[in-house]
Amino acid sequence: MESVPLVSANPLRIGATIPNFALDTTEGSFTMHEFLVKEEKPWTLFFSHPNDFTPVCTTELGISHKMVPEFAKVGCKLLGLSCNTTESHFAWSKDVLAHERLSCEEKLAFPIVADLDRNIVTALGMLDPEEKNAEGIPLPARALIILYNTTVRLTILYPATTGRNFVEIMRVLTSLQLTQNNGLATPGNWNYGERVIVGPAVKTEHAVEHFDDFEIENLPSGKPYVRSVKCPAAGMPRN
Ligand code: BEZ
Repeated sequence: MESVPLVSANPLRIGATIPNFALDTTEGSFTMHEFLVKEEKPWTLFFSHPNDFTPVCTTELGISHKMVPEFAKVGCKLLGLSCNTTESHFAWSKDVLAHERLSCEEKLAFPIVADLDRNIVTALGMLDPEEKNAEGIPLPARALIILYNTTVRLTILYPATTGRNFVEIMRVLTSLQLTQNNGLATPGNWNYGERVIVGPAVKTEHAVEHFDDFEIENLPSGKPYVRSVKCPAAGMPRN
């Protein structure tokens, strides 16, 4: 049997440092790392969309625009991307704002990258082979990457036909912040405030000492592996 390498070449694998691309955006030119590393907002949602002036993307951009203050409260900034020009992004932004019943004079609350030569989407494997433009060239998928500074912490990849749920993205961001470097984990369907799981690597004595209201669930196997504690305060201030 062939041996599988432990670390894949996927540039978006969890823990990878994202490459430092030169970015041309609606808020000027800068490098990816310059944008990502910000002391007051170390978290970033970097998300691609298939095309400007398309209906699902218009709804997604409008929702994310309105949620920028909520993400900012937890130290997170946003960066969009598609393979259109900045002029196209500016013109389309007016439609996005109008769709949200906002003034077209307003500015979209985050920059959008113009990846016209497809360098970034190709290097990061963000293309959806099933969705093509009029020339038959694949469009970007709905990739979304959550980064802590320059480190990839989570990725989701949806096809062009399925819009993302930004409430779910806020939920997973909260989980990432709450479980960073402390051995905790959040269970399925978890929401902020609910009990959290003590991860398998954490010793019971450590959990009892460091977290509130430690409990072990009694299970038929008799194995004491479902351990939980009260939800700690979130990693970044929430109000
Ligand atoms: C949209 O954003 O509406 C869309 C884009 C590509 C394929 C399907 C839908």
